[in-house]
Amino acid sequence: MLDLFAGDEPWEEPLAGGATILRRFAREEAAALMMEIHGLAQQAPFRHMVTPGGHIMSVAMTNCGSVGWSTNQHGYLYSPRDAQTGQPWPQIPAAFRALSDRASLAAGYPNFEPDACLINRYAPGTKLSLHQDKDEPNLGQPIVSVSLGLPAVFQFGGLQRSDRLKRVMLEHGDVVVWGGASRLFYHGILPLKPGFHPLTDTFRYNLTFRKAS
Ligand code: SIN
Ligand code: FE2
Repeated sequence: MLDLFAGDEPWEEPLAGGATILRRFAREEAAALMMEIHGLAQQAPFRHMVTPGGHIMSVAMTNCGSVGWSTNQHGYLYSPRDAQTGQPWPQIPAAFRALSDRASLAAGYPNFEPDACLINRYAPGTKLSLHQDKDEPNLGQPIVSVSLGLPAVFQFGGLQRSDRLKRVMLEHGDVVVWGGASRLFYHGILPLKPGFHPLTDTFRYNLTFRKAS
């Protein structure tokens, strides 16, 4: 296919009402973001959380921020401490926050104040089933989602699980922002294809910024 944007400049792709893909938006800071991820993982290691239904999640996760997303027997929750270490989650690094601010502004959400960042790590075969991000009390604030490393297919639907899904490939440096009319739209990631990326080896990483308290 003819790619009119094959140069270095990021470009915007509307995804749904209130939702935009900022293509290649995080490319320049990607190496710095990866360094931060490795540092954070020393304090708060990646782990496979167990869903309330007893299933081990295939995505490995950790968090930074004043609260972090996790699971327990009863459900999903944001908590100020990492249950695995007993310590508070590490703070959101300045480079993360700067990117989130730049992206939310570019997507039309200038007042986004994230206080939580979930860090997902996908190995080959790993998927994230269709879900809504609905554990946040303030649904007026968007979600900012940053893709790093190996590409993955992102599914984005509607308010009903059964709504038609758009499938888009998310590549290294792509940022998706959704809020407003699509804040509660179902979304997920199809099983990751094996590959190698110079910055992330055999993995895909994803950062999702939220306002969670
Ligand atoms: C998520 O929905 O939490 C993550 C989506 C992604 O990995 O791109
Ligand atoms: Fe999500």
